[in-house]
Amino acid sequence: MKNYVLKGNICYSRSKDEICIVENGYVVCENGRSAGVYAVLPEVYAPFPCFNYEDRMIIPGLVDLHVHAPQYPFRGLGMDLELIDWLNTHTFVEEARYADLEYAGRAYEIFSEDLRNSETTRACIFGTIHSSATLLLMEKLEAAGLKAYVGRVNMDRNSPGYLCEESARKSAEDTEKWILDSQGFQHVRPILTPRFTPSCTDELLERLSGLRKKYGLPVQSHLSENLGEIEWVKELCPGTAFYGETYDRYGLFGSQGASIMAHCVHSGEAEMELMRKRGVFAAHCPESNVNLASGAAPVKRCLEKGIKTGLGTDIAAGSSLSVFKAMAMAIQCSKLRWRLYDQSLAPLTVEEVFYLATKGGGEFFGNVGSFEEGYAFDAVVMDDSSVRQPRRLKVRERLERLVYLSGECRMAAKFIDGRVIFREN
Ligand code: GUN
Ligand code: FE
Repeated sequence: MKNYVLKGNICYSRSKDEICIVENGYVVCENGRSAGVYAVLPEVYAPFPCFNYEDRMIIPGLVDLHVHAPQYPFRGLGMDLELIDWLNTHTFVEEARYADLEYAGRAYEIFSEDLRNSETTRACIFGTIHSSATLLLMEKLEAAGLKAYVGRVNMDRNSPGYLCEESARKSAEDTEKWILDSQGFQHVRPILTPRFTPSCTDELLERLSGLRKKYGLPVQSHLSENLGEIEWVKELCPGTAFYGETYDRYGLFGSQGASIMAHCVHSGEAEMELMRKRGVFAAHCPESNVNLASGAAPVKRCLEKGIKTGLGTDIAAGSSLSVFKAMAMAIQCSKLRWRLYDQSLAPLTVEEVFYLATKGGGEFFGNVGSFEEGYAFDAVVMDDSSVRQPRRLKVRERLERLVYLSGECRMAAKFIDGRVIFREN
């Protein structure tokens, strides 16, 4: 089914400052792309089948710019440590299990099914150092119909023996083979994934830089998440002025290719300026930043500066796959940040977090995350009728409440690139 119309209360972003709302309106899907939003359906679209969602809410699919699939089994566990201790105590132990394909199959089946059943339509996903398990994850996401970038993780230093690649050369060779093996997917694409500077030697980053150029791949990694981590990076990389430079000196920080850096909690002005200049995406992961006591990221500053920014759930430092929850927490964290230590940045607004979760993160995938004409037709239909209410709310109020109360609402349909992922009626 390539052409159809959805009817309902339509909400989408054009910019970070406003939410466009058409109550009882129509959004048209033509060949997998949006042909626009209308209060009155133009004659030309009258022959298209119309799915009438009546009083339900229709929004662009949500985008998760940063999530670790292999960490899904321990989400909600082991939140009593900061980043480096958390990695060594919980994370690496779990990720090592993916050497076992049978375990990987079971775990990734659950992850892919839950992601399919969430409001997320697109995601940028970390796997592990295991190529076969990562390919299995890609197969399962493809079968679920989701659009995703998936990375086989690189790490060749400061990692436990059971989860450390034997050399930079072997890591890069295995990565190249995995890139070639992952060319056959339609909806899922490979992304280079050096874990973070502390776990990658200079030689490894240099070799990945070669692969980036050779295959034209995007890059994802972590940046300036935790104060101890940042100090460690300074010791590991003398001669760099800030963390971002450790990627930039190997061409892994935007510019010629797209890249996403998760967290940027403690990024200073110089690092942010380079991100802006290079077009690097910041993935803001508020729940993770609270759970690992990393800090509160200056997201408003990223937006003010024009840095491309989206939201991430960062499972399992974040406990939930819900990007709605990430939106609510982004607002809440920005309020504490403002109240406790920086009155120069006002708290985030509902308009801003809705933008981050849709069009902001969606930009990493191209024209994605809005219903403006020509955008990929990614949509979710939310039924909020289960939230009982003695008076009628405006659509804008219902959207705001969806951010905070999505857990009490039901998703009635989900579409990606115009494909029906599921539909109630
Ligand atoms: N930095 C390096 N690896 C990780 C990870 O798995 N999660 C988080 N939150 N930060 C990291
Ligand atoms: Fe992460």
